Amino acid sequence: MNSSHKAKVLLLTGASGGLGRALSALWAKSDWQLILHCHSDRDLLEEHLSGLEFRHAPMVLQADLSDPEEVLHLCGEAQKKAGRVDVLVNNAGLSHSAVVWKQDIEAWNRLLAVNLTAPFLLMRHLSPGMRSRGFGRIINISSVVAHLGVFGASAYGASKAGLNGLTASASKELISGGITVNNIALGYTSKGMIDQLQPEHREEIRVRIPAQRFGSAEELSGLIAYLASDQAAYLTGQTLHLNGGLYA
Ligand SMILES: NC(=O)c1ccc[n+]([C@@H]2O[C@H](COP(=O)([O-])OP(=O)(O)OC[C@H]3O[C@@H](n4cnc5c(N)ncnc54)[C@H](OP(=O)(O)O)[C@@H]3O)[C@@H](O)[C@H]2O)c1
Repeated sequence: MNSSHKAKVLLLTGASGGLGRALSALWAKSDWQLILHCHSDRDLLEEHLSGLEFRHAPMVLQADLSDPEEVLHLCGEAQKKAGRVDVLVNNAGLSHSAVVWKQDIEAWNRLLAVNLTAPFLLMRHLSPGMRSRGFGRIINISSVVAHLGVFGASAYGASKAGLNGLTASASKELISGGITVNNIALGYTSKGMIDQLQPEHREEIRVRIPAQRFGSAEELSGLIAYLASDQAAYLTGQTLHLNGGLYA
C-alpha cells in the first residue's frame, strides 16, 4: 500500500495538555486522521475538540502511560479503530521539581515510566505495523533541559536525555523498514508546562533566550509536519533543537 494515497493516521499522546490542545487545533483541517490521547483530562480535551471543525473526525483514547498494560491496550485500540498508525508523536510528559537529595524514588520511577518507557513501548508496539507497510514516522518530544540542566529537574532531564539515546539507536534499527525516528528538543514554549511557572520566573527565562521570546505551538507544528512528511524520509536519528538559540 502506498500510504501517501490516503490520509495518514497520526497518534498524538498528551493531546489534552497545553501543547497537545494547541497542536490538535492547528491540525484540525490537516489531511491527518488524528488519534488524540489523554490521561486524566478527557473532559477538557473533548470540550476543546467540540469547538473545532475537523476534516477527519478525530478519535480520542485514554490511557495512563505509566502502566505498560495500558500502553499496550492504547496501541491495540488505535490500530483497531483507525486501521493503522503511520505517525507517532510522543508528546505526553510529566515534570516535577525535586533536588536529588530529596528525590522520591516512586516519583522518579513514575516520571521515567511516562517520559521514557512509554515512548519506547509505543515504538515497540507500533513499529511492526509500520515496518509491514514500509512507512513510519516516530517523533519524540524531548527538552532543552536534557542538554542545559535545570536546578530541581534531574528526573525530568534524565528522562528527556534518555529519549535522545533511544532515538539515536532505534533510528538505525528502523530505517530499513521505511521508519524514521527523530527527537525535537523543545525550548520554552508558550503553552503547557510553562504556564505552571510564576510570571517573574517566566520573565527571568525569557530574557535568557537569544530570540527574547518563547517558542510557539505553530513553530512546533511546522517541524512535526516536516518530520512526518514523505520528504523527510532521509532525516533520521536526529535531535533537532527548537529553542530560539538557547542551546545549539
Ligand atoms: N511547554 C514547554 O515549554 C515545553 C518545553 C520543553 C518540552 N516540553 C515537552 O512537551 C510535551 C508537552 O508538554 P506540555 O507543555 O503540553 O505539558 P502539559 O500541559 O503538562 O501536558 C502534559 C500532557 O501529558 C499527559 N500526561 C501526564 N501524565 C500522564 C500519564 N501518566 N499518562 C498519560 N499521559 C500523561 C497529560 O495528560 P492529562 O492532562 O490528560 O492527564 C497531558 O496531556 C512534554 O513532553 C514536555 O516535556 C514542553
